[in-house]
Amino acid sequence: MDISILILSAGAGTRMKSTLPKVLHKISGKEMIYYVIQEAKKITNNINIVLYHQSELIKDVILKYFDDINIVIQDHKNYPGTGGALKNINFENSKILLLNGDMPLIQADELKQFFEIDADIVMSVIKLDNPDGYGRVVIENDKVKKIVEQKDSNKDELKIQNVNAGIYLFKKEILKRYLPKINNNNTQKEYYLTDIIEFCVKDNKIIKPLFVKEENFKGVNSKFDLANAEQIMQNKIKKNFMLNGVTMRLPNTIYIESSVEIESESILENGVTLLGNSKIINSYIKTNSIIEDGEIINSEVGPMARVRPESFLKNSKIGNFVEIKKSNLNAVKAGHLSYIGDSEIDENTNIGAGVITCNYDGKNKYKTKIGKNVFIGSDSQLIAPITIEDNTMVASGTTLTQDVKEGELAISREKQKNIKGFFKKFFN
Ligand code: UD1
Ligand code: MG
Repeated sequence: MDISILILSAGAGTRMKSTLPKVLHKISGKEMIYYVIQEAKKITNNINIVLYHQSELIKDVILKYFDDINIVIQDHKNYPGTGGALKNINFENSKILLLNGDMPLIQADELKQFFEIDADIVMSVIKLDNPDGYGRVVIENDKVKKIVEQKDSNKDELKIQNVNAGIYLFKKEILKRYLPKINNNNTQKEYYLTDIIEFCVKDNKIIKPLFVKEENFKGVNSKFDLANAEQIMQNKIKKNFMLNGVTMRLPNTIYIESSVEIESESILENGVTLLGNSKIINSYIKTNSIIEDGEIINSEVGPMARVRPESFLKNSKIGNFVEIKKSNLNAVKAGHLSYIGDSEIDENTNIGAGVITCNYDGKNKYKTKIGKNVFIGSDSQLIAPITIEDNTMVASGTTLTQDVKEGELAISREKQKNIKGFFKKFFN
């Protein structure tokens, strides 16, 4: 499409009250700016981002995800404000869509409506019961006549419920012609982009409002807004999965980050947390379990289990208070209270209650390898590095320090002594 996108992200974001730049605050696992760029890329390849405050930090995050974004630094000292942000930018295409880095809920599909309207400027408008904080939009005969910033509004203007959502589609000539005319004669001593509207109205240019939904055009200015945006994003993510056949018990208690994948008829009970690049295929995740970057196929997890990064479970069953880290379980059962780290465990193996792989000696991490048809008795400690071959048993309470060969039983217990009459003697 013959469209350039410009994303404004140079503001100080003071209302966030944070040392982290506003657009780097995360919702559903990713920085806000990530979502804006992601949606923008569905529209055009020509994406420009304006930065100034903490630009290096923001740039690093953008480069982590994308390599084809044009970064521009605003001359903020001389030209502060949303109008100043557009100074000296050369646009490649004949129309410019302006987005904000603090609007993480925008959807490319909805942005496409802008291109269906023929006007010199199309601007997004939301009707709000409480318009507080936004620029007010005066509309007459379906045309925008004026935008006044809250800080510059009189009593009557403050009552206007139509507000500027901050997204616009401009014809390039309009920006070229009117940007140089904007000045900073206002309460905030800033160059307001919204002043362009006044010049255009004077010259009989056509400015059309596009009424949009608040849930997709919400701007994040504070931590309170951030929490609201998170809620909206979570609702979207979970609705999508449910419509694709995932069962959720009490979805309001479930948290799923945006890069998680869930396939087939998986079931998530209340309190489940799925993070990072986790992949859940045809599995049952029970109450209050947490999966971080794990892959779970045809398996049952929890209640109250934790699967940490680089873990892969297939046809397996892990129960309460079992923690798995960087391990590969293929048709394994570990029902209760275990730590399994840096391990490979093969088919038909049973891990008893309270088994611990001792994978760390204070300096390095070591691997545990357990074969097929192995029975590890409860409360055993497997001191890694260690290999337990197929068809073997480890007796309960064993501290395993040597490899176990095919067919063997390993046992490392003290022989039990029973002392007659001890109780009576002791308590007299
Ligand atoms: C702006 C609009 C207001 C609208 C609101 C919608 C103006 C003058 N006002 O107000 O009408 O209702 O958005 O959310 O445009 N930015 C820069 N450089 C700057 C200043 C800001 O790039 O010098 C960026 C910010 O990082 C942000 C965006 O522009 O992404 C909007 O700035 P912000 O300060 O949030 O403007 P609002 O006061 O919300
Ligand atoms: Mg804002």
